[in-house]
Amino acid sequence: MVAHSGLLTVMDRAARKAAPRLRRDFNEVQHLQVSRKGPADFVSMADKRAEQTLIEELRKARPDWRILAEEGGELPGDPDKPRFIVDPLDGTTNFLHGIPHFAIVIAVEDPNGAQGKPEITHGLVYQPLTDESFWAEKGRGAWLQDQRLRVSSRRDLSESLIATGIPFMGHGNFAEWSRIFGAVAPEVAGIRRLGSAALDLAWVAAGRFDGYWESDLKPWDVAAGMLLVKEAGGFVTDYRGQDMAMQRNQFLAANDGLHSKLHKLVANALR
Ligand code: IPD
Ligand code: CA
Ligand code: CA
Repeated sequence: MVAHSGLLTVMDRAARKAAPRLRRDFNEVQHLQVSRKGPADFVSMADKRAEQTLIEELRKARPDWRILAEEGGELPGDPDKPRFIVDPLDGTTNFLHGIPHFAIVIAVEDPNGAQGKPEITHGLVYQPLTDESFWAEKGRGAWLQDQRLRVSSRRDLSESLIATGIPFMGHGNFAEWSRIFGAVAPEVAGIRRLGSAALDLAWVAAGRFDGYWESDLKPWDVAAGMLLVKEAGGFVTDYRGQDMAMQRNQFLAANDGLHSKLHKLVANALR
């Protein structure tokens, strides 16, 4: 049994405070599918409400920290203190369609991390419908509740299950994604597009997926999940295998045994 730090407790509590309403709204949205106007406005309200609860809770505990939130943008605070990075609902399209796969995501970024550069130190991906809390602290491992997480031990691409995010209307690079898909799909046991980048990464950390690729994401989609994968013993790089995922906005995550095989496939496909 491991106790998380006080800060992680604050993050977990905030997510659990926002979750019941989000669960109720999700049940409601399933009934709205048949209405003519559709549930889109309703979901955007649910999203904003969840964010509001998260901000209130985080602000109560750390009043002088900045918060970067998907809906509200950058809320001011002390620039020398860490900042929260928040996605109140990752997997909006699933939520909108009544598909039970979405998460609340909170990360903490220290502006003065290793080598004086900003660094993600805490990450939480909370799935309200399963009550699963995936969390990681820099140097203290990745966890699902009180169970230590470790990336999968599969070494053969032919046995691996890989997650991805597929570009969609107005978003992403279709030609690039297709080339990667064309190179990876014939080599692996399966590809999944589940619709929440944060959960994709958390599930790589938990060994459910063996790898994952996607580009054109935002810090709130990936900050928590990247820390989870690394703390679970995996790697997250750009498509060339370099430690530049955030800078290049390309995310290639995998267990320690498969990462180099996967990045070679991807790099070749893009050459
Ligand atoms: C989206 C999800 C999805 C990814 C999209 C993101 P949202 O976040 O993480 O898996 O493919 O690019 O925008 O809009 O549901 O918060
Ligand atoms: Ca979102
Ligand atoms: Ca998101």
